[in-house]
Amino acid sequence: MGEPLVVAEGLRKVYRSGPKEVVALDGVSFHAVPGELVAIRGRSGSGKTTLLNLVGGLDRPDAGRVTVAGHEVTALPEDGLRVLRRDVIGHVFQSFGLIPILSAAENVGVPMRLARVPAAEREERVRVLLSLVGLDGHANQRPHELSGGQRQRVAVARALANRPRLLIADEPTGQLDSQTGRQVMRLIRALVGSEGVTALVATHDPGLISLADRVLELRDGVLHGDDSRGDGPRGGEAGASAAAP
Ligand SMILES: Nc1ncnc2c1ncn2[C@@H]1O[C@H](COP(=O)(O)OP(=O)(O)OP(=O)(O)O)[C@@H](O)[C@H]1O
Ligand SMILES: [Mg+2]
Repeated sequence: MGEPLVVAEGLRKVYRSGPKEVVALDGVSFHAVPGELVAIRGRSGSGKTTLLNLVGGLDRPDAGRVTVAGHEVTALPEDGLRVLRRDVIGHVFQSFGLIPILSAAENVGVPMRLARVPAAEREERVRVLLSLVGLDGHANQRPHELSGGQRQRVAVARALANRPRLLIADEPTGQLDSQTGRQVMRLIRALVGSEGVTALVATHDPGLISLADRVLELRDGVLHGDDSRGDGPRGGEAGASAAAP
């Protein structure tokens, strides 16, 4: 597998509101290798979103560092982060984050417009992506004309538009019923294979966790269960094989 794609070391994040301090992450370290699907679970408030935001360059830690595909995320200035989020990292949010007045195809095309991909190439890639997520025939529908699962699949297609190395998904199935949620997660699982991306997915759903290669658990900002990939048992009980062969 070679070099890890994501390396996080000693991440600490403290939120201050008035006199109160909340230690959201306390010395979190992990890595993810290319083509790996890593699930991050933990109860509400355990720090999942905070961790994903630090890895994805949406927020900065108080201590520690993150490297993604050789880029030191935690050291980049704002414009460097913008380029990284455009070209290297794809984001999927719980609430989809689609632009309401744009069609499914136009939403998927937005990151490519930002990257100034020529129109013909863009249209072809949009077609391929919509087909990949099972939405051929829905290209011209706007988000409000799509089901929740379809909207999230558009969001996944959009996240993959610029062929990111890393897909970050924060509770991508949180607003979907469990069956639709599983479809979206299976889609992410399949795409990690076919597109060769690494995925970091925060989720509560045990069914979804069982599809991961590895499960990390956050408890009060501390990470547990960072086992190495391969034949060993997985951390945590969900989806874990009982023992190493
Ligand atoms: N902007 C903020 N200001 C102050 N405290 C915050 C802020 N964002 C998060 N926190 C606190 O940091 C802790 C971790 O929050 P975080 O959103 O990372 O949890 P989470 O695991 O994603 O939870 P959930 O499953 O509910 O999404 C919580 O105690 C939360 O209240
Ligand atoms: Mg969260």
